Amino acid sequence: MSTKKNIPALPISKKLTIGLFGFGVVGKGLYEVLQSTPALQAGIKTICIKNADKKRSIPAEHFTTDPRAILEDEEINVVVELIDDADAAYSIVKEALQKGKAVVSANKKMIAAHFEELLRLQFEHEAAFLYEGSCCASIPIIRNLEEYYDNDLLSSVKGIVNGSTNFILTKIFEEGLSFKDALLQAQQLGFAESNPALDIEGHDAANKLSILLAHGFGTITKPTEILYNGITPIKETDAEVAKQKNLQIKLVATARKINDTQLAAFVLPQFVAADDELANVNNEFNGLITESSFADKHFFKGRGAGAYPTAAAVLSDIAALRYNYKYEYKKYLQQSGISLTNDFYLKVFVSATDINLIEKDEFEWLEEWHNESNNSWVVGIIHAQKLFSGNWWKETGVSLILTENPIVENVDYRKIGKKSLALAGVL
Ligand SMILES: NC(=O)c1ccc[n+]([C@@H]2O[C@H](COP(=O)([O-])OP(=O)(O)OC[C@H]3O[C@@H](n4cnc5c(N)ncnc54)[C@H](OP(=O)(O)O)[C@@H]3O)[C@@H](O)[C@H]2O)c1
Repeated sequence: MSTKKNIPALPISKKLTIGLFGFGVVGKGLYEVLQSTPALQAGIKTICIKNADKKRSIPAEHFTTDPRAILEDEEINVVVELIDDADAAYSIVKEALQKGKAVVSANKKMIAAHFEELLRLQFEHEAAFLYEGSCCASIPIIRNLEEYYDNDLLSSVKGIVNGSTNFILTKIFEEGLSFKDALLQAQQLGFAESNPALDIEGHDAANKLSILLAHGFGTITKPTEILYNGITPIKETDAEVAKQKNLQIKLVATARKINDTQLAAFVLPQFVAADDELANVNNEFNGLITESSFADKHFFKGRGAGAYPTAAAVLSDIAALRYNYKYEYKKYLQQSGISLTNDFYLKVFVSATDINLIEKDEFEWLEEWHNESNNSWVVGIIHAQKLFSGNWWKETGVSLILTENPIVENVDYRKIGKKSLALAGVL
């Protein structure tokens, strides 16, 4: 005999009528994904785009260029915002929330820039705002940070959070493509932002890290308060050093609690050893490692860019709205009091086309020192605040790459002083 009739029915799910902003890589991907998931009973009523004259793959009657057609339509109870203009996206999302509509977005730049205000709007208007697709595309990391690690003591989150730079690094180092060709391929495949500087200069990864900090640790911070850089400075000679040491170079975002109240967070190119889980995260894939007191380590890997992987995360948010799911921002509201600090030390590799470009005085300690005609490099310990407030390491011809385990713990270099540099014969 079936026991099914004894099981209580699920709460009645809401009918979702969607107004979609954007019909580019992700918007079109979502449209197609929704076509193949009729069981969800979520239909797109109107699609708002920017250019009326662009050729589309579906009939023109679906489209409008007037945002009011969505925002003022009372039948539309879900706004899905998938456009590439962060300022316009902010106005759309703000107004939709003020009107009490649920909103789904993947726009990390907009979310990171206005996090606190968007949080307030959600509470004020009791409207859900979900954005799983904004961090690591297909990897369900935000909901995991929100829900799973709530009662566990999360100590760190680190990983590859930008699919297009990971794609570029893979193509350069494993297939020998030039930077320009690798970027072009990433753009053609829909992995890059419309403005690729957002990816290659590290802004996109910093935006994502700031969102992860809020959900992982309850720490709300502007991306500009995070120490970060992108992949443009990495030189061929750096790749050769990496190869000699059997290491890879990846753009890695890290957030690590350094004590009960302080958090180190940065996004920088990093050497990755062959036995690190991140070494096998290639092309447009993203990978994240979480560490927590009781669960120990978890490793998430999945496609970090592209039409369907990102649309899958958006779809999952839409599905969650049927059951009135909302982020609760528990860690932030509990005032866990964990704040960002740059008071820690990093072990870094710095190379330069001219030795004089390396600011030796900024280091606390130098472990390696190589001076060749057109490529010099050092490995040493530097205080993170010196990197945050200095710019010499971002100058043309200089690249800074973190070593495999970059945070140096349990040593107070302020006590050791500059003696080590003198011993190394550098000063
Ligand atoms: N691509 C990815 O792999 C990926 C992954 C994760 C997150 N995301 C995020 O998803 C969002 C969309 O990215 P995408 O790659 O799909 O961008 P895209 O391919 O460049 O498409 C952008 C779309 O936005 C529309 N648009 C721009 N400004 C508009 C405005 N003011 N009003 C209405 N529509 C407007 C464009 O209209 P027209 O068609 O008329 O030009 C276009 O359809 C971005 O926030 C991005 O950061 C993308």
